Amino acid sequence: MITHIKQITTESLEEAKKIIFSSGVVAIPTETVYGLGGNAFDDVAVKKIFEVKGRPNDNPLIAHIHSDYDLMKIIDYDPPYAKKLRDAFLPGPLTLVYPATNKVSSFVSCGLNTLAVRVPSHAGAQAFLRAVDVPIVAPSANISKHVSPTSAKHVFDDFNGKIPLILDGGNSIGGIESTVCDVTGEVPVILRPGLITKEMIESVCGACEVYAPTLKKGDKAKSPGMMYKHYSPRCKTYLFGSNEIDLAKEKVLEQKKNGADKVALLCEENVVKEFETLPVVLLSLGKSEAEMASNLYGLLRKAEEVADVLVAVEPKKQDGVMVGVMNRLKKACLSVDIGKDE
Ligand code: TXA
Ligand code: MG
Repeated sequence: MITHIKQITTESLEEAKKIIFSSGVVAIPTETVYGLGGNAFDDVAVKKIFEVKGRPNDNPLIAHIHSDYDLMKIIDYDPPYAKKLRDAFLPGPLTLVYPATNKVSSFVSCGLNTLAVRVPSHAGAQAFLRAVDVPIVAPSANISKHVSPTSAKHVFDDFNGKIPLILDGGNSIGGIESTVCDVTGEVPVILRPGLITKEMIESVCGACEVYAPTLKKGDKAKSPGMMYKHYSPRCKTYLFGSNEIDLAKEKVLEQKKNGADKVALLCEENVVKEFETLPVVLLSLGKSEAEMASNLYGLLRKAEEVADVLVAVEPKKQDGVMVGVMNRLKKACLSVDIGKDE
């Protein structure tokens, strides 16, 4: 199969629509990361997404809809505080998990009685969703466990020859996946941190909890995707705290001594100068939290391209949006996979 990358035009949207209604999958841009999209009503398309991505079949998918799509077509109950969240943050990088059963393909929610729904703000995503006018399930468009894609090229690198079309909507500015927030209970519960923070949700709903499981191998997770080693570059990784710069320097030298050809060093802009005299490829995350979120995945992909070892130093700021950034960075650098084997 030849994989085409196309700018978003009337013609390419028409082509995407044809693929979607023949049970195919199309990669689409969003403001967070690129997604691998298929028709949520179509069992064949949904199964294909799991197959192409190599995704474990207990990890549910998010349904994406355009901003005028009737949400009640796909959920069973809309809690009052969920509307407040939609009014405040949608379209945008917030996914809400609603009570729902049997409205879309049974393969979407992997046996859970809930459905995750997201309204992306990216203009290209909206144009595509309007063109097809069905809910589109779309996991991040990376091979399972690999670094999520923030450009059409990243998607191409993972799926060349495996999908027919990538709609190119430029670089994803947000850079990390949407906040996933459960709205099935009394108060919202964050299942996956992201650009819409706990504080932002609290300011709208008065309360917000964070689901923080301590899972052992074999346990069932509320949001199964959170269990796995994930977002990982294909090189050796080491992660150090912001106060462990000396240890990070020692690790660089040790790796060079042990024969590493190229060592990449990932850290925030203010810390770059600490490593300037060392034999490393310096990858600066930037300064602000928005920059660090936006740059993270591109730099993790760069690291695997240019180096055989990545030494990363955690940014100092770890609250707000950085909760989401740290969640991804830690999983990317996990040496032990507590998820099940794929
Ligand atoms: O920003 C995003 O959300 C991107 C773009 C493409 O929209 N999508 C994305 O999808 O990150 P994915 O499949 O890579 O991650 C979806 C996360 C997983 O952690 C999954 O377990 C969780 O959402 N999830 C999906 N449906 C759920 C449900 N019904 N209940 C709880 N968690 C759910
Ligand atoms: Mg993903």
